Amino acid sequence: MTKLNISQLTKVYPGASFKAVDNLNLEIESGGLHALLGPSGCGKTTTMKMIAGLLKPTSGDIAFNDQSVMATPAEKRGAVMVFQNYLLFPYMSIGENVGFGLKMRGVDKATIKKKVAEMLELVQLPGVEERRPKQLSGGQQQRIALARALIVEPNVLLLDEPLSNLDAHLRDEMRELIRKIQSDTKVTMVFVTHDQEEAVILADKIALMFDGVLQQNDTPDKFYEEPVSEQVARFFGGQNFLAGKLENGRFQSDIGEFHAEKGVVEQGQAVLSIRPESIEMGVDAENDNVVEGRILSHVYMGTHTRYKVMVKDHEFQVVTDPQAIRKFNDGDAVNLRFGPEQIWVLR
Ligand SMILES: Nc1ncnc2c1ncn2[C@@H]1O[C@H](COP(=O)(O)OP(=O)(O)OP(=O)(O)O)[C@@H](O)[C@H]1O
Ligand SMILES: [Mg+2]
Repeated sequence: MTKLNISQLTKVYPGASFKAVDNLNLEIESGGLHALLGPSGCGKTTTMKMIAGLLKPTSGDIAFNDQSVMATPAEKRGAVMVFQNYLLFPYMSIGENVGFGLKMRGVDKATIKKKVAEMLELVQLPGVEERRPKQLSGGQQQRIALARALIVEPNVLLLDEPLSNLDAHLRDEMRELIRKIQSDTKVTMVFVTHDQEEAVILADKIALMFDGVLQQNDTPDKFYEEPVSEQVARFFGGQNFLAGKLENGRFQSDIGEFHAEKGVVEQGQAVLSIRPESIEMGVDAENDNVVEGRILSHVYMGTHTRYKVMVKDHEFQVVTDPQAIRKFNDGDAVNLRFGPEQIWVLR
């Protein structure tokens, strides 16, 4: 069981004018599955390589179980990285590929053979020892890459977008396999992805990075319920944002004033956010937190109806029950209520 502590970790590539990773502070729990999420180029692979010991940080520290590993070479860290493009040795058999790490450690042939068979069992590809990588599908090769990493019994498994080359069906299968391996082996996993849905499905915790900077490190639900910024909320599909100013629990904007109770900003410049399904449509004007708008368009989705409503020059997405189409038509004037307990104020 290994816990990771990353402190003030920074990487500037030689000759680069920007920080690929910028003052990253992150704790990765022992035996957990932590996703490192963010758009292309945000520093995910760079972070993973530094954890694995394959890339020297410009500054900062990485500790495994509270012991700094900065002076520990890659092969002694007990961390194994599986790369984006799974790099099997093409001229070796699958058995040789999977057993490679043990051979390098001088383990005897009989033990390697037994362990290889076990690993192939674990990744649900038993008996393929004699085949060559090119005789396997992409998804199967990816599983072999996993088996090759796991055979050395790492304390930390670093998976860099292991599913990005697979089709949707295989991705589902691999997700299940990754979860199973984690619960069987209790290895601490860091999993890189740029797909927010994948991170949510797989991870216990998600660290979201933009441009080398950690934005939020939280359980998946918090990215929907309590995002720290508009940028984070948008990455997770958030749609309704309104810029303004928060003063003593009143959010002031050019469409009106709202009583707001929850969020990450206490005072000053802020952004109001509210989920489409949390907006109440067609309420009496006497209520608090109500603004008048006009329905621009709607789409009936069977399970719900989705409206676009203009309030002055701001467009809001509103999700209602499907029957709302009997009450509300395009062009209607309609009151929207942003309940104080439904508003989340962010940066
Ligand atoms: N060897 C290198 N030399 C110089 N710059 C690099 C090097 N490797 C990566 N970078 C730059 O550092 C930044 C972070 O790259 P990194 O590979 O960590 O991104 P990533 O989040 O893994 O992206 P992707 O999702 O595309 O794999 C990018 O701007 C990239 O161009
Ligand atoms: Mg990458």
